[in-house]
Amino acid sequence: MLIKRPDDIAPSEITPEAIYRARRHFMQGAALGAAGLLLGNAEAEAAALAARPSPYRVSDDLTPLKDVTSYNNFYEFGVNKDDPAANAHTLRTRPWSVRIEGEVLKPRTFDIDSLMKLAPQEERIYRLRCVEGWSMVIPWIGYSLATLLKQVEPTGNAKFVEFVSLKDPQQMPGQRDDVLDWPYREGLRIDEAMHPLTLLTFGLYGQTLPNQNGAPVRIVVPWKYGFKSAKSIVAIRLVKEQPLTSWMQASPREYGFYSNVNPTVDHPRWSQAKERRIGEFFKRDTLMFNGYGEQVAKLYTGMDLRKYF
Ligand code: MTE
Repeated sequence: MLIKRPDDIAPSEITPEAIYRARRHFMQGAALGAAGLLLGNAEAEAAALAARPSPYRVSDDLTPLKDVTSYNNFYEFGVNKDDPAANAHTLRTRPWSVRIEGEVLKPRTFDIDSLMKLAPQEERIYRLRCVEGWSMVIPWIGYSLATLLKQVEPTGNAKFVEFVSLKDPQQMPGQRDDVLDWPYREGLRIDEAMHPLTLLTFGLYGQTLPNQNGAPVRIVVPWKYGFKSAKSIVAIRLVKEQPLTSWMQASPREYGFYSNVNPTVDHPRWSQAKERRIGEFFKRDTLMFNGYGEQVAKLYTGMDLRKYF
């Protein structure tokens, strides 16, 4: 295949991100994977993932791929921002299966490759706001979690959804320390989990997920703090009661179940009013529900968001 690129990019400047942008502007289709192979770039070695653009795209500038893949929180691989990129190569993402169980009529275990094919993959550009006060803008690839949940037919008792990440200290060296109660567990109310914005995520920047970003499958919930978006998940449980998440267990005063991005409700140790977009110098104002209020505010009508933080 002949790979074209925009004239204004010098070959020396070509990174997977530049290729990605070039593709978005100049090419439709799947040239990205081939371009990555031609360049032999390690980050581009992940398989290209075909995805159609979705209407869920913010117009903010994208965070450079190198920041998306080198500044991470993934405590299973260490607590420093550069630990996941350095250590996550020990994660084996095949074979991999995900159990969907609990209050459902049709519990099922999916092999990761069949899970990826269950619905057409979409590319969505979401803001991700970390509770620590930084944010990124990332082109994720996946499909709405609702598509999967509908397949297993939740019962009337399914009020919440729990996400369970892999527990394997052999592959995840950070689990040899008990900074959190492993496995990493997160949760959503059923209507939050069924909201079309909640993304079952397999890729970013046109590629399958790098290990440090939660390969081979993670959740992304763009209106909540980043820790709600569990990585490398092996089980999705539909349950009657609100699940106890790893962060609530570690520090209930600081991390509530809802954890909606909210500039008016401070973390006990710092303000949440502003954020630093990775790659930018000046801080910007944090938006209510991370800017997704039009879509999600109705989920919380009548709730005191100070109490249900
Ligand atoms: N999932 C697991 N299993 N373990 C983690 O430590 N960290 C969370 C979330 N998901 C975490 C996790 C936090 S605090 C954030 S901000 C996001 O992942 C970061 O996602 P990213 O590294 O892809 O930006």
